[in-house]
Amino acid sequence: MSASGKGLLGLWLYRTGEGWALKEAPPRAQPPVSVSTCSSGVGVMPDHLGKDLNSVVFSLKNQVGGLARALQVFQDLDVNVLHIESRASSRRDSEFEILVDVQCDESRMSRLVAALRREVAAINLAHFEGGAALPPPTPLSAAASFDFGEMPWFPRKISDLDDAQRVLMYGSELDADHPGFKDPVYRKRREQFSDIANSYKYGQPIPRVQYTPEEIKTWGTVFRELHKLYVKHACQEYLENWPQLVKYCGYREDNIPQLEDVNRFLKCKTGFQLRPVAGYLSPRDFLSGLAFRVFHCTQYIRHSSDPFYTPEPDCCHELLGHMPLLANPSFAQFSQEIGLASLGASDNDIDKLATLYFFTVEFGLCKQDGQLRVYGAGLLSSVAELRHAVSAAHKTKRFDPDVTCREECIITAFQNAYYYTDSFEEAKDKMRTFAGRIQRPFGVRYNPYTQSVEVLSNAEKIAALVSELRGDLCIVSNALRKIHEQDETVDVASLTSMLHKGIELDPSAASAAPHQDQGCSSAAASAPSSQPDSPNPQ
Ligand SMILES: [Fe+2]
Repeated sequence: MSASGKGLLGLWLYRTGEGWALKEAPPRAQPPVSVSTCSSGVGVMPDHLGKDLNSVVFSLKNQVGGLARALQVFQDLDVNVLHIESRASSRRDSEFEILVDVQCDESRMSRLVAALRREVAAINLAHFEGGAALPPPTPLSAAASFDFGEMPWFPRKISDLDDAQRVLMYGSELDADHPGFKDPVYRKRREQFSDIANSYKYGQPIPRVQYTPEEIKTWGTVFRELHKLYVKHACQEYLENWPQLVKYCGYREDNIPQLEDVNRFLKCKTGFQLRPVAGYLSPRDFLSGLAFRVFHCTQYIRHSSDPFYTPEPDCCHELLGHMPLLANPSFAQFSQEIGLASLGASDNDIDKLATLYFFTVEFGLCKQDGQLRVYGAGLLSSVAELRHAVSAAHKTKRFDPDVTCREECIITAFQNAYYYTDSFEEAKDKMRTFAGRIQRPFGVRYNPYTQSVEVLSNAEKIAALVSELRGDLCIVSNALRKIHEQDETVDVASLTSMLHKGIELDPSAASAAPHQDQGCSSAAASAPSSQPDSPNPQ
C-alpha cells in the first residue's frame, strides 16, 4: 500500500488525525460454507470445517409469552443466534412462524430441538437460508473459456467474495496510535466485531449488534453535528434518501442503525448489498465487491474519547457518509462501474481506479443549482473537512479521470484538490471512457439474474449477449413507439440517437489498440460537461 494513501479504500478523513500508519497483513483464509437440509425438521448443515450453520422454523403455542419462552431456550443453551424473523406460515395462511438462524454444533442442536419441542406448537421446517452450495451460472455461450494466464484472480460470482477479504489494517488489532489502543474494553469489543466480519459468508443475514449506551452517545454526537451541515451542503440525491433511511432503517440521533436493516433497504432501492468487514480491505478486494453491488461496511464505532476523530472508517462514516448515496440508482451504477473496471486489472490500474474512487465516492462534489454540493462520503462524515471543502474554491477542479488519477490522496491533512462534476451521469461517462482504456483483453458484464460476472472474451460470447440484449431493446423500442403515438412532443430522434450511439465503436480507437477494451465512444460525446475529456493514452 502506498504512502500516498492511494491504497486506502472505504476512506473518509477525520481531520484531526496525525501520523497515520499503514501495515500489511497476510490474507485471511476464507473457508467456504456448504449447507444442506436434513429430514428431522431441523436443518443441521455443518460446513466441512465444522462451523455449523442451522435454521429452525417453528410455530408458537397459542398462549401469552410463547415467543419469549421459545427464545429463552436458545439463550439457556448459549446458542449463537444469527438472525430471527417472523413470517407467514408456509402451512396455514392464518398463522405465523418464527425463523431462527443459528450457529452451533450438532450435539447442541439436538439439545436445542429437544428443549424447543416442549415450548412450541410445531417445528415445521428448517433449512439454512443462505450460503448453500450452488451450481455455477450457465455461461453465455459454449465457446471456450478465456485463458487468464498471469492475470490477477477476480471473483466471478457473488459468493466468490468470500475469498476476497484481505484486510490490510486494523481488523482485530489496533495500532499504538489508535485512540482505543490503551482501552482494554474497547479492544475486546473490537474483537467481537472482527469475529462477526471474519465468520460472515455470502447469503447470511448480518448479525445484529446491541450497541452500548457509550457507543450510542458517540454516534449521537457525530450525528447531531453533521446533520446541521447536510441541508446546506449535501447534494440533492443525498437529501432525497435521508427521510427514507429515517423511516425504514431507524436513522436517529439515539439509535445506531443495524447493517441488516440498511442492507434490506438498499436491496430494495438499488440492489446494493452490505457485507460486514473487520477493517481496511485491500483496494482490489474492495473494488471487486462493488462490481457485484456489494459494499463492504464496518460495523464498529470509533473510540468515545474523540467523537470527531477516527483513524479508520467506522459505522458513522459508512452509515452517514455512504448509505444515502448507495440508495440512488445513478450513483449505485457509477460505483458498480468502477468495480467492474477493476476486475482482472493490473496493480497499476487498480491504483488509478482507487484514486478515482477516492476523489469521487469519498471526496466528490457536484454542481447543483449553481452551487457546489457534496456527495463524497469522506466529506459527508467529517465536520471539519466538509466545511473546508465547500469554502476552498481555489482547490475545486472539474473531474477529469486522466488528471484526477494522478492526484495525491492525502491522509494526514485536507486534500490539495476536490473534483466536481455537473452530475453523476457526467462522472459515469468520463469513468466509462477511462475504464475503456484499462489494459484488459476482454470486457466484463454483470448479470444481475445470476449475480455473476460474464467475461466477454470472444465473438461468440458477445453474440450471445447481443441476442439477450435484443429483448430489452425491443421493449424500449415498442415503449417509445407507443408513447410517441400518444404524445408527439416526445423527442424520439434524441432517444433513438442515444440508443444508436450506445453501441457505436470508435473505429480509430479500434484500429489503434485492437487488443484492448473499447470504451463507449458516445459516452464522452454525450457527457454534459462543458469541458472536453482529454483522452491521453495511459
Ligand atoms: Fe468510505
